[in-house]
Amino acid sequence: MKVIQVGIGGMGNAWLRAVQESPNVEYAALVEVNDAIAAAQVERFNLQGIAVYRTLPEALKAVKVDGVINVTPPQFHQEVSVTALEAGIPVLSEKPLADTFEAAQAIVDKANATGVLHMITQNYRYRSATQTLKQTLASKAMGEIGSATVEFFRGPHFGGFREEMPYPLIIDMSIHHFDLMRFFLDNDPVSVFGRSWNPPWSWYKGDASASVTLEFMNNVFVSYNGSWCSQGREIGWNAHWRFECERGVVFMEDDVVYTQPTGGAPAEVSPVKMERTEQAYLLHEFYEAVTHGAQPATTSQDNIKSLAIVFDVVRSFETGQVVKSSA
Ligand SMILES: NC(=O)c1ccc[n+]([C@@H]2O[C@H](COP(=O)([O-])OP(=O)(O)OC[C@H]3O[C@@H](n4cnc5c(N)ncnc54)[C@H](O)[C@@H]3O)[C@@H](O)[C@H]2O)c1
Repeated sequence: MKVIQVGIGGMGNAWLRAVQESPNVEYAALVEVNDAIAAAQVERFNLQGIAVYRTLPEALKAVKVDGVINVTPPQFHQEVSVTALEAGIPVLSEKPLADTFEAAQAIVDKANATGVLHMITQNYRYRSATQTLKQTLASKAMGEIGSATVEFFRGPHFGGFREEMPYPLIIDMSIHHFDLMRFFLDNDPVSVFGRSWNPPWSWYKGDASASVTLEFMNNVFVSYNGSWCSQGREIGWNAHWRFECERGVVFMEDDVVYTQPTGGAPAEVSPVKMERTEQAYLLHEFYEAVTHGAQPATTSQDNIKSLAIVFDVVRSFETGQVVKSSA
């Protein structure tokens, strides 16, 4: 299968590695607007035989491809994805689906109208720790889930767009955790309520801390507390999760999953072994979908429900109201 990757900077590195390691996928061309980044990456990944174009339409005119991998910043997702879909080319796009709900809806509408696959790379789902937690919850070893608490505290200094954007934690990062909530609970929220704030020492322009309560359709309440300008005791990217269940507790701390029955001791759950994880998993899923018609879990038609949580939470911050789910 031949692909074009659009955007080969930052996160583009992970996809350059995944494609080069894949036995099934190879590059037909690359697209990058920044010539210095293009030259450096071609050198670094030994891609001298692959043409780099400035725009996707130019690349699509020059080569025949089976898929497009979109690794541009969120504000370019709509333009790149819609161009590919209109040309009938399936798209594997980085999260978030788009930078606004309207842009995300436009991509989903285009995918529906053309019948061409558009899927999102929610890579946090495809890690051993999160798969282990998912399987433990699905086994109902501790019974039905009543509520959950998620904690995520880190203090990264990214520089760049994240330090300028509004609500950097919720818009850029929490999409992964909100998507994981839908994955773990196998359910969608009915409403959200949240407050956000920016600690006095914050190096972000927008609010970098938040507290959100989500009510899911199965009456499970989730409490989410996080900050992207924490000054210590950092928590891993997958966050800490605690599920209050009928007959005990299921929790994940530092990527280790435990069960603790009522009155009993915590027991570690053996981690799930995975043949492929993260980008390699998603690239293989994309390949299976394009070549054999398999249905991926994170199509944009499904993923817009995760992105809707982000924008509903922002609406709650800005109105001070409980916001009913818009998905
Ligand atoms: N899944 C994850 O864990 C994860 C982690 C980091 C970033 N991301 C996502 O990856 C995407 C890219 O983020 P990043 O951190 O790599 O950003 P970045 O700014 O570091 O890199 C983006 C690259 O795309 C290029 N570019 C911009 N517009 C373009 C266009 N129209 N056509 C071609 N190239 C273009 C830029 O020159 C740059 O090289 C974002 O959507 C981000 O949210 C995901």
